[in-house]
Amino acid sequence: MTAFDLESIDRLLTTTKAVRKRLDFARPVPRALVAECIRLGCYAPNASNAQEWHWVVVDEPAQRKRVAEVYRGILVPRVSQMLEAKLAVGDEAGAKISRSILYLADHMHEVPVLVIPCYDVPAALRRYGTLIADPGPYGLSTKMDSGMFASILPAVWGFQLALRSRGLGSALTTAHQLDQPAMAEVLGIPKDWFQTALIPVGWTKGDDFKPSPRKPVDDVIVWNRYAGN
Ligand SMILES: Cc1cc2nc3c(=O)[nH]c(=O)nc-3n(C[C@H](O)[C@H](O)[C@H](O)COP(=O)(O)O)c2cc1C
Repeated sequence: MTAFDLESIDRLLTTTKAVRKRLDFARPVPRALVAECIRLGCYAPNASNAQEWHWVVVDEPAQRKRVAEVYRGILVPRVSQMLEAKLAVGDEAGAKISRSILYLADHMHEVPVLVIPCYDVPAALRRYGTLIADPGPYGLSTKMDSGMFASILPAVWGFQLALRSRGLGSALTTAHQLDQPAMAEVLGIPKDWFQTALIPVGWTKGDDFKPSPRKPVDDVIVWNRYAGN
């Protein structure tokens, strides 16, 4: 027996998805609500409970425009190319996702809130007691290891679930990572905070989200020992 309402919880887990075309650009999102969802996300597991994260929240219109410009500049040429390649091989499902991604990019500045969860890489390295062995491409280490990713992405997903439970939609995007220094400049953040995502947040238009296609669970489980194909 459990105290949870499994029907609601299962619906939350299966219908929290990338919302791009159904974000309401006109309805403001209260700061307190965003803060509450970040607070809930922060209950996620993270190494040594060190909580080496910083959640940069952008809701001021001129600043959203700057962030969106960086995102668009990186994403649009690449995804446009991907769209053409998908159309050339008749991959309609793939083309649909690319079109949706391009739509979001075109409208990113209109999304009420943009959240950039950052991971403080030097803080983690200090905790490890290691020196920055590899200074990375920007002179300071922005290199994330698997433990660092695992110490922030569960919190990001918890944040997205909390948003959905309150009628807000979001999408995990990472395209801007190809030019993190440009985004760091706009945000005024240290260049060695790794920007794990750029998450647009807005009220959803309607609530009737269907689960996205996923492989059957029996196709993805390996019981006890992998026997090959
Ligand atoms: C690592 C990663 C990077 C992603 N990057 C982008 C992105 O740059 N832009 C975007 O619109 N969606 C992005 N997505 C969202 C995926 O396209 C989406 O999760 C996937 O198509 C499955 O759809 P669903 O989440 O709606 O079920 C990303 C997702 C992940 C996990």
